[in-house]
Amino acid sequence: MGHVTNPAIDAVQTEPAVRTGTAASTAPRPESAAGGGPPLRVSVVGTGYLGATHAACMAELGFEVLGLDIDQAKIDALTRGELPFHEPGLPELLTQHVQSGRLRFTTSYEEVGAWADVHFIGVGTPQKPGESAADLRFVDAAVRSLAEHITRDALIVGKSTVPVGTAARLKDLLASTRQAAGLPGTVELAWNPEFLREGYAVKDTLTPDRLVAGVESAHAEDILRQVYAKSLAEGTPWIATDFETAELVKVAANAFLATKISFINAFSEITEQVGGDIGTLADAIGHDPRIGRKFLNAGVGFGGGCLPKDIRALQARVSELGLDRTMRFLAEMDDINLRRRDRVVDLAVQVLSHSLHGSVRVAGADGAGSVPSPAAVEILNGAKIAILGVTFKPNSDDVRDSPALDVANRLYTAGAEVAVYDPKGNANAAKRFPRLGYVNTLAKAVIGADLLILLTEWDEFRQMDPEDIGRLMDRRTLIDARNVLDPSPWHAAGFTHAALGHRFAPDSSG
Ligand code: UDX
Repeated sequence: MGHVTNPAIDAVQTEPAVRTGTAASTAPRPESAAGGGPPLRVSVVGTGYLGATHAACMAELGFEVLGLDIDQAKIDALTRGELPFHEPGLPELLTQHVQSGRLRFTTSYEEVGAWADVHFIGVGTPQKPGESAADLRFVDAAVRSLAEHITRDALIVGKSTVPVGTAARLKDLLASTRQAAGLPGTVELAWNPEFLREGYAVKDTLTPDRLVAGVESAHAEDILRQVYAKSLAEGTPWIATDFETAELVKVAANAFLATKISFINAFSEITEQVGGDIGTLADAIGHDPRIGRKFLNAGVGFGGGCLPKDIRALQARVSELGLDRTMRFLAEMDDINLRRRDRVVDLAVQVLSHSLHGSVRVAGADGAGSVPSPAAVEILNGAKIAILGVTFKPNSDDVRDSPALDVANRLYTAGAEVAVYDPKGNANAAKRFPRLGYVNTLAKAVIGADLLILLTEWDEFRQMDPEDIGRLMDRRTLIDARNVLDPSPWHAAGFTHAALGHRFAPDSSG
């Protein structure tokens, strides 16, 4: 253990695009287990975003799969081939493998316990309400329930993101529960973190960048190698290690990504004041292969179900370990990230005051935090603002911890009349903030607007025609909070253009 068996870690990945749909139905069955027995039977506990994706991808790899959830409605929907969230490529896999019978769903731990050789745990580990720490009750319940119902030799494999030390604790929980249950079979635990990105979850599961396995025996490693035989044959780096490293790999990766985004966004605060081009700065440092250009896109910052909660849970965990100062910089990263939202509200005030009153008013330094200053309220009150995008990133319908939705709500709270349009996210956003004004087309959002704010970089927004948009708006003003629009055609169409990471100087920019 502790070894990397594929040295090609820095190799450029040239994976073919993931095929889904009919073509993929030819996916071969996996080879028999090393001992020449039948292929492994796989269960996946938790059928949310991670679990449903993993279950469908395991079926795509040729395994017989049983997905388990305690939510009967979710199981019924999945059995009908219906997904409760948007993820490109996944509906096709689900339908195909449910129809073929290779992928089934159940609410019964008895059934999976008597049937599967490998049980993946893909339940959520959300942030505890009012705290930074992760809520582990679902993962604990899954391990306990499996331990109480498995009646044969099996491997339990945690995929959920957990604080370091959790797997060792769950190993003890597994042992004591098995002892009390007195059931036949030897059950072992392994930890195999996921790294899937929303919008690319199928690709990331079927052709991962790397596979990490926290294992305590050669047997556990062998089982996981059988599960991932196809990826391993294609050269995916395989890192077999201890529980602690496997747990930390996941949070370290997310902490690094969050830091990278906040790093460039901190420089945005400088260029916004002194001038300069944040995109060119990112390009220039990104050419250094030690730095790399990815995750240096300055904008309204990170959100979603992973990065924000994972950096908070990591700080909480290291504090528990008595290492309070170790991850203190992550609190700073979190602050930089949240300040970007303040900046958009501030910029809205500046752009509107310039457009409506001919002078640039600054909302004031007290703008930090989610409560708009009185100056901001005065300007924003009654202003018509088109909000383009509410999801935390494009190609997703997820609005969890979405910077875009937060900004929309702050503007609404300050008295603005917001017309919100997102290609996929309106329904989820409306559940969270029902009082915002939602519309179902881009055109309806911009009609009569005093200001347009692009908050999530969907292709539909990247491709907007400035003249078409300008004709519909009352005032030609725009804030690009994701830095994806070329300002020149917007200036040419008479727009006042502002962007994060750029000084707002309307009189010099047109
Ligand atoms: C992330 C990790 O990438 C993934 O490996 C992990 O398993 C789960 O968390 P995801 O939440 O799907 O995946 O989103 P990601 O693509 O990482 O983007 C996170 C956030 O950062 C988004 O809000 C995105 O808009 C923002 N972001 C990303 C930036 O603001 N700038 C960038 O340059 C990149």
